[in-house]
Amino acid sequence: MSNIEYEAKIYDVDPADIAGKLAKLDAKEVGSYNFRRYVFDTIPAKPDRWVRLRSDGKQATLTVKEITADTIDGTHEWEVEVSDMETTLEILAKIGIKPRGYQENKRQEYDLELLLQAARLAPSSYGMEQWNIILAQDAKLRAQLKKASSIVNGSRFDASHILVFTAKTASGFDKHMTHMLRDVKGANVVTAAAMKAGWKHWAKTDFKVYDTPDGLHQWAARQAYIALGFVMLAAAERGIDSCAIEGFSIDKVVAVLESFKLINRDNDLPVVMLALGYRADGSTHPRSRREMDEIVTWY
Ligand SMILES: Cc1cc2nc3c(=O)[nH]c(=O)nc-3n(C[C@H](O)[C@H](O)[C@H](O)COP(=O)(O)O)c2cc1C
Repeated sequence: MSNIEYEAKIYDVDPADIAGKLAKLDAKEVGSYNFRRYVFDTIPAKPDRWVRLRSDGKQATLTVKEITADTIDGTHEWEVEVSDMETTLEILAKIGIKPRGYQENKRQEYDLELLLQAARLAPSSYGMEQWNIILAQDAKLRAQLKKASSIVNGSRFDASHILVFTAKTASGFDKHMTHMLRDVKGANVVTAAAMKAGWKHWAKTDFKVYDTPDGLHQWAARQAYIALGFVMLAAAERGIDSCAIEGFSIDKVVAVLESFKLINRDNDLPVVMLALGYRADGSTHPRSRREMDEIVTWY
């Protein structure tokens, strides 16, 4: 079969929203895929044409792909389904056609959206969501963040995704609270003023986080760590490994983020990073934990 494939990436999709809409249409989730693919050159080899033998874990296909133009409809495909990827590989080998490459990947972008939703839906003190996430995917930004981190963390920056959690400073939080109450919670001016006054009393008297600017920032950082935990748990649930990273210089990371115009230090400061990715095959990591009775006191 010959066909033309139109492929596009759509960003800023809210998966929970889309999933809800699909559910209303009686759509069912098909599941997640673990793609394995061999790539072969044609004979003679051509830079714009190649052969792909691919399995998504359920169905295997043999495809010739050809790029005829650098436009959305410029890639042509001739594809047939094959009943067994390994046997097809052997058949091709017997003909004398050996793969030039092998790749495995999973539908990680979808997973990432779920993880970001886990952060978004995490609770925060007073519901103020006093933190943000910077997804550090740009190679230059990555390299600078790596340089600002401890040497032992070097390999963390090879992970497929790096999240930098930032938390509000005292002055950043003041503006942020006004925005949250007015724009997110929909409070009118009177209600917002009353809520702010109530919060201020609690922050000064009860929780004593108000008297130093760092106290407020550390309080905001604690909320960022709840979101961090939510992301880590959601990642574990999806079979994605994660490693929180505190091994970096805050001053250096602030300088890096400011140089990329990602933060203004008056309002936001980095508090923790998170490396996410699928584990390299076969790698394991020893774990140790205290006994339960050392951790929990029943009374
Ligand atoms: C807030 C936080 C910061 C961490 N910072 C680092 C870090 O900079 N580098 C690193 O290799 N591991 C870091 N870790 C990982 C911890 O060392 C790790 O969670 C702990 O050793 C337990 O690992 P396990 O769950 O694999 O047993 C951090 C963990 C947390 C929760």
